[in-house]
Amino acid sequence: NKARTFFVGGNFKMNGSLESVKSIVDRLNESKLAASTEVVIAPPAPYLYWAAQNNKKSQVFIAAQNSYDKASGAYTGEISVNCLKDVGATWVILGHSERRTILKETDEMVASKTKFALDNGVKVILCIGETLEERKAGITLEVCARQLDAVSSKVSDWSDVVVAYEPVWAIGTGLAATPEDAEETHVGIRKHLASTIGAEQAEKVRILYGGSVNGKNANTFKDKANIDGFLVGGASLKPEFVDIINSRE
Ligand code: G3P
Repeated sequence: NKARTFFVGGNFKMNGSLESVKSIVDRLNESKLAASTEVVIAPPAPYLYWAAQNNKKSQVFIAAQNSYDKASGAYTGEISVNCLKDVGATWVILGHSERRTILKETDEMVASKTKFALDNGVKVILCIGETLEERKAGITLEVCARQLDAVSSKVSDWSDVVVAYEPVWAIGTGLAATPEDAEETHVGIRKHLASTIGAEQAEKVRILYGGSVNGKNANTFKDKANIDGFLVGGASLKPEFVDIINSRE
């Protein structure tokens, strides 16, 4: 859908070094990137300032991989959205399945952090998605709806939210969802959003697919009207990230 700007995010997760982050930022600086693609890279927190300082592309933005729902104070180890803005990060990834499962973040926590980030001017890539068990049980859309509803009960303006649909079984497995399966779920997600935040907003929200996207399969999602971009893990660390950014051309 041309009305929604194509969006490609790179989630580096807990990987990298000053040197490797530098080479990724350098590569983006030097590459020809499709002008119509919005790119967001999410290096580990210690590298955010450096990445923001060295990024030369006006279409590339910097994201954190987490933030807290308080401005400052005695919250050892947490990341303040004010600090993010201060170092030049304008986006944050929230609700990633690794944080939901390993760090035990609840729908409620993710929603509260989303609201806080948005209220304080940091845009949010909100991750949702079902586990393999849930998919087998046929409750994919129920799970996505529950995760979205937690947020829509607190957030009414979704203009700075991008939804990333990441089926847990496709993350880091090399086994991406088929474009047809992903599109089907994206349509369901958009319908659900229409029923909660209104059709007009739902139509504008970008819904990304995430899970084993790479330089080879990215363009197979091209003709799917409701796949508005990708959130990329492993392949965002490699040169093929540029091919993913340019996969709509
Ligand atoms: O957030 C992106 C992600 O979870 C997908 O990871 O490595 O399967 O592209 P990967």
